[in-house]
Amino acid sequence: MVKLTGLKKIKTAVFISGAGSNLKNLIKFSKIKKSPISIGLIFSNTPKAKGLRYSNQFNIKKYVASFKNSKIAEEKILNLLKKESIEFICLAGFMKILSKGFIKKFNGKIVNIHPSLLPKYKGLDTHIKAIQNKDKLAGCTVHSVTAKLDSGKIILQKKVKISKKDTPASLAKKVLSQEHKLYPAAIKRIFN
Ligand code: GAR
Repeated sequence: MVKLTGLKKIKTAVFISGAGSNLKNLIKFSKIKKSPISIGLIFSNTPKAKGLRYSNQFNIKKYVASFKNSKIAEEKILNLLKKESIEFICLAGFMKILSKGFIKKFNGKIVNIHPSLLPKYKGLDTHIKAIQNKDKLAGCTVHSVTAKLDSGKIILQKKVKISKKDTPASLAKKVLSQEHKLYPAAIKRIFN
């Protein structure tokens, strides 16, 4: 992970595809004096992402581009990131895979939050898999993004106990509330 230290906050873009609870949490974190980041852009691959409402609520620029043609979408995003002087990207429930070329351009400056204890359960349906396998522990991971899916260096992880009563939905809720603590802690670790 490349360190981007300085007096000014690091201008960050958050990429989302859905509800955006991690986005909202990161925005709140960014407003704390000691936070190393400011949020300058919200990107979504779909106009349906509920998290886009935080653009209006917190007065942050938003941009939507479909990944049906991911090459064109990535080109547009890269231009915008440059225009907005974005230095760092947080993926927060972003459900598209970025190309190797895109990741290379932001080498070491993209992080992701994943709802499992990586390297276990890369990809989708992590909570279903954990329950089906009768795991005792689930959790979440913040990691740096490399060209290989969910495989970059682990920055921080948080474990969550799975109870016998847990369903994929109840487990997702428990893990998500830990994600909201983990993501800011991981960002502090990266930059401080
Ligand atoms: C979070 O649980 C996040 O870890 C997961 O999607 C959810 C988004 O919630 N991300 C992935 O599965 C990425 N592969 P949010 O939109 O409320 O932040």
